[in-house]
Amino acid sequence: MQTITITGGQTLHGTIRPAAAKNSVLPLLAATLLCGAPCCLRNAPELSDVDTSLALLQAVGAKAVRHGPDLCTLPVAAADLCGEIPPHLAGAMRSSVFYLAPLLCRAGMVRLPLPGGCRLGPRPVDIHLAGLAAMGARVELEGEAVTLRRFGPLQGVDFTLRLPSVGATMTLLMAACCAMGTTVLRGAACEPEVCDLARFLRACGAQITGEGTPVLVIQGRRALSGVAYEPLPDRIAAATYAAAVAAAGGQITVEGCAPVYYQAFLQFLTECGVVVEKSDALVTLARDPARRLHGGQHLFANAWPAFATDTAPLAAAVLLEADAPSEIYDHLFANRFACATGFAAMGADCRAAGRMLHIAGGANLQAAAVTAPDLRGGAALLVAALAAQGTTVLRDPGHIRRGYAHLPADVAGLGAQCAVQSQAVQESRKQSI
Ligand code: EPZ
Repeated sequence: MQTITITGGQTLHGTIRPAAAKNSVLPLLAATLLCGAPCCLRNAPELSDVDTSLALLQAVGAKAVRHGPDLCTLPVAAADLCGEIPPHLAGAMRSSVFYLAPLLCRAGMVRLPLPGGCRLGPRPVDIHLAGLAAMGARVELEGEAVTLRRFGPLQGVDFTLRLPSVGATMTLLMAACCAMGTTVLRGAACEPEVCDLARFLRACGAQITGEGTPVLVIQGRRALSGVAYEPLPDRIAAATYAAAVAAAGGQITVEGCAPVYYQAFLQFLTECGVVVEKSDALVTLARDPARRLHGGQHLFANAWPAFATDTAPLAAAVLLEADAPSEIYDHLFANRFACATGFAAMGADCRAAGRMLHIAGGANLQAAAVTAPDLRGGAALLVAALAAQGTTVLRDPGHIRRGYAHLPADVAGLGAQCAVQSQAVQESRKQSI
């Protein structure tokens, strides 16, 4: 297991640019299975979830490789595709669920063992399945695996999602591109990454309207070609860098990610007392480390355009030392604040109660040995450690690299004392003591 050491107390300075968004790149890779010509996704980060996706594509018979910063795929004949997703790849990430629709459409069947990913509470796939069943798929549940089959082409439908799930909207968008006739999706998610998938599919020849609104209309059965495509920048990575300077102090510029993509987080930082200056695709953030940030915040994380659930733990990290108590409620995930244990170990007075996190504020954070409970919770512990006295050891059983290619190096590049320690280095140190 890797550990990350963070010695707090250094202010951050410089400029940083987030890579392409994980939550765009992963569904786009799955969508390339629908394409009849090569595709190239530009500036894709070196995430372990991307590696898992490339392995999954290979395992089902597709050809996908990394060329430097780009991910390239070749078209594959339906007869060469296999719908069996290997359990170890399904279990390694939540995004294995994005392969349901493309494999059902192209291979005629798909078998998905239990998807993995962050343990944020129950993460059912009932909306994905209900939508695909409405299009004519036969759904078989067996233990923790689901098998979908079609007997003839899927049929366009008028389907209302019972809640605006990002993943289910993407699944049904992909399926609708292959279905006969028109599909109308109501109650769809409006997140920028959903819009990005719609733009990608349209660039390949799909006919889609309404992305960014709750009603999507798709004319199916258009032959999809390929495209060289630059996915959206990672708005959650941008928010992570912003949280880092808010916690540590200093002044940084985040470039290449329009502020509108993380507007709710920037507004929150402004209310805390961080000086935020925005232009087209540049955000400059400044914080005087000698002055405490303002607490008294009541945040409510929900679907776009509300405060993003993935930024809720980062906001918590920023508020631990603030001058008044705050609360954060996460409407989407029941266990979003598993990082509270790590915050408490660092001396913060904070407590998760169901979906609510209570933060007393006023902490003087001290280094501790803590464990990343999930991807964003791990990033939030790293952010908190930037403000703590002493050297925090963050045990990371692989979570952070699932969503950030080089987070420790990124903050080190801005002036933080932060480094990855590999198992081998730790063992040799122990032996030399
Ligand atoms: C996506 O997850 C993101 N993951 C998550 O980011 C993000 O937190 C989430 O959207 C919300 O923005 C990827 O894009 C790979 P949902 P997803 O379906 O699609 C319930 C990160 O750290 N639901 O919108 O799984 C579900 O349980 C990750 O980058 C059902 O009940 O999220 C949850 O309560 C973590 N039935 C809510 O909807 C379903 O069939 C929102 O989930 C589907 C979802």
